[in-house]
Amino acid sequence: MTAATGFGLFLVVTLILLGAVVVTGKRSLRRRHLTLVVLAFVGLGLAIYYAEKLGEEYDLKSAGRIFPVHLAFAQITVYAYLLPVITGIMTIKAKCKRTTHGRVAVAVILLTVVTAVTGLWLVLAATPL
Ligand code: HEM
Repeated sequence: MTAATGFGLFLVVTLILLGAVVVTGKRSLRRRHLTLVVLAFVGLGLAIYYAEKLGEEYDLKSAGRIFPVHLAFAQITVYAYLLPVITGIMTIKAKCKRTTHGRVAVAVILLTVVTAVTGLWLVLAATPL
């Protein structure tokens, strides 16, 4: 599989899985929710793996300021995924409202979309090697 195909495939798979995570969370299907969270994290890991391989095919510095901007978003997003994990565990322990966890989780998904858009922008602006 080429890096571009792998990245596109796993990005779409991850977004679909995250959608299913939100639906199962809203419907209180706890076991299915947690299984889908694990699958979404695996999908995200594979998307990042292929994104890095794709990056090796471009002179990313040639893209200008979008390169550090995308890197910053990518790092913030990866760490931000700790927030739904922490608030999810707190929801199980009844130390956090499920609506708070839901809002935090949706914010992190939106951050993921912004990161994907800046990543696409980076690749389109960079010179292929
Ligand atoms: C990417 C990660 C996650 C996303 C996007 C996500 C999303 C959501 C959403 C949207 C809800 C519904 C909230 C509402 O009704 O307003 C929910 C509920 C819930 N989530 Fe998550 N979640 C994630 C990770 C986790 C994790 C890691 C845990 C636990 C370790 C967890 C545990 C729960 C629990 C216990 C509920 C309430 C379900 C119930 O009422 O039985 N979530 N989640």
